[in-house]
Amino acid sequence: MLTNSLLFLFLFFFALPSSAVADVGTAASYGPPYLPTACYGNDQSQFPVDELFAAAGEGIWDNGAACGRQYLVRCLSAATRGACAEGQQVSIVVVDRASKLASPPSRNGTTLVLNTQAYGMIANLSVVGINVEYTDQV
Ligand SMILES: *[C@@H]1O[C@H](CO)[C@@H](O)[C@H](O)[C@H]1NC(C)=O
Ligand SMILES: *[C@@H]1O[C@H](CO)[C@@H](O)[C@H](O)[C@H]1NC(C)=O
Repeated sequence: MLTNSLLFLFLFFFALPSSAVADVGTAASYGPPYLPTACYGNDQSQFPVDELFAAAGEGIWDNGAACGRQYLVRCLSAATRGACAEGQQVSIVVVDRASKLASPPSRNGTTLVLNTQAYGMIANLSVVGINVEYTDQV
């Protein structure tokens, strides 16, 4: 009996996939001006050196706790065939709130709004919205 319990515990904690759970949502794009942001105001140093960042939609904004979170984002599909860049994913950091952007997003109400550089890495920029898989990279 004890052995069975230990086996169960072992399976529960170690046999499950160790990677973070991926969620499915939507993404739009936005371009400059990027300042000020809802997370860090006018601080120019908030942007990562690779210039890949995003704004959080209300679903993941989490009362501002989303600021600084890193997500790995992958394009799953879009209304336009071929809009996703095959096999590409992009790592972004959240610096803003989608509903408070200094420049309007290509579509309202998405889970994430990626800046032009980030969006362009996983999808065709002429497509206003895509379905994505995103994973918190804490
Ligand atoms: C998003 O919502 C704003 C405010 O309601 C509106 O002005 C804008 O046209 C909308 N953008 C899109 C892409 O629908
Ligand atoms: C992006 O979409 C536009 C408009 O549909 C198309 O003309 C262009 O070839 C596409 N670019 C790529 C890289 O697929």
